[in-house]
Amino acid sequence: MRMLIKNGTIVTAADSFAGDVWIVDGTIVAIADARQRAAFAAEREIDAAGKYVMPGGIDVHTHLDMPFMGTTSRDDFQTGTIAAAHGGTTTIVDFAIQARGQSLRAALDAWHAKAEGKAAIDYGFHMIVSDVNPSSLEEMGGLGAEGVTSYKLFTAYPGALYSDDGQILRAMQRARDLGALVSLHAENGIAINVLIEQAVARGERAPRYHATTRPEVTEAEATHRALCLAEVAGAPVYIVHLTAARALEEVVRFRDRGLPVYAETCPQYLFCSTDDLEREGFEGAKYVCSPPMRPRAMQEELWRGLRTGHLQVVATDHCPFDFVGQKEMGREVFTRIPNGMPTIETRLLLVWDGGVRAGRFGPSRFVEMMATAPAKLFGLYPRKGSVAVGADADLVVWDPDREQSLAARALHMRVDYSPYEGRTVRGAPTHVLSRGTVIVEDGKFLGRPGAGRFVKRSGYAPA
Ligand code: URP
Ligand code: ZN
Ligand code: ZN
Repeated sequence: MRMLIKNGTIVTAADSFAGDVWIVDGTIVAIADARQRAAFAAEREIDAAGKYVMPGGIDVHTHLDMPFMGTTSRDDFQTGTIAAAHGGTTTIVDFAIQARGQSLRAALDAWHAKAEGKAAIDYGFHMIVSDVNPSSLEEMGGLGAEGVTSYKLFTAYPGALYSDDGQILRAMQRARDLGALVSLHAENGIAINVLIEQAVARGERAPRYHATTRPEVTEAEATHRALCLAEVAGAPVYIVHLTAARALEEVVRFRDRGLPVYAETCPQYLFCSTDDLEREGFEGAKYVCSPPMRPRAMQEELWRGLRTGHLQVVATDHCPFDFVGQKEMGREVFTRIPNGMPTIETRLLLVWDGGVRAGRFGPSRFVEMMATAPAKLFGLYPRKGSVAVGADADLVVWDPDREQSLAARALHMRVDYSPYEGRTVRGAPTHVLSRGTVIVEDGKFLGRPGAGRFVKRSGYAPA
């Protein structure tokens, strides 16, 4: 199949320029001047006049079909990846989870089974190691050969996903030797559990106490500790879902010392706040995730981090739970509200609107944080993450004037609410291509569940 995308403004992390994109059998074969167009016989043309042609979004933090806190995230690999495609995302990296006592092999096989035949866009897996022991450390080598080159460890959730400092250090040392990247969910879960116990004893049971029992300092301390352990190991480290300004200060300090330290934030921390947790009735439960919402003033600190490059990536941490029947599990006490929010479809929409349209940064910086930097850090580059000759034709034709409602009924995620009900954004995809196939056109899904392929990733590279 030969396809031409013509008349658009191509955006990479470095440049914006007028040009045509030539695609043959799913691969970009040329980026050409319009005057050369006659030399390319295309079977299909997309006219991108007045629009941007950007690499498809890469979301390196999703939880599809994930068992968590006594329930399971609502989107599976079919519904979640279709929703992602609607929002312009063409690759995800989801988290396979090793249960305590389980091998990494069994965990990875289980996640392959969840995704195969269902995913509508390409996908990879990180591995959550919840049982760092000699055998899982040994197994990490085999995983690398299968294209699983990144790990997530937790200083949060004691008794479940938590690892102690020694386990984190050993995993980082092993990852360093393998050229892999360790991510950290950095909150001091042990201290948080004390604060939770004390809050509940005082009768503080409403959703807003989810934030008061996870104060900023517990994120800053755990972030500092994770960065120190990475320094001891001589390994790169990636802090997921950073939300506290004080945690960002730690990242900046280590980066200024030249250490390979990276961090992502998520749209919910740029657009929601503790004000949402305090909504009437039990509505605040819709905004319960960890780390928690922070005061609204902190949003600007995160935007500044994105603008300056102190934060490298915006990923979603997509982990949707219905309000009815799932979030409601915590009506009696906030500790039973499943942690997580729906975002896989709205990431590019929100960050374009609040970032590019609001004048905080330009389209190239947007592309860098949405696609190029995550592709480099997580071993997808140069196959994915840029508009370049030889790359997969995972592309988004983006209309900066297209309006999109963020109401639940206008979106495709399998969840019964939207955190952004009533909000309309400007800037949305008209066409989304996965390896040269148009999978979304003018809001219609044209792809196929099962067409997404598992991507074997190479090792970490600096971004
Ligand atoms: O609240 C969250 N973040 N839920 C998903 C699991 C995690 O910690 O990333
Ligand atoms: Zn996490
Ligand atoms: Zn997560």
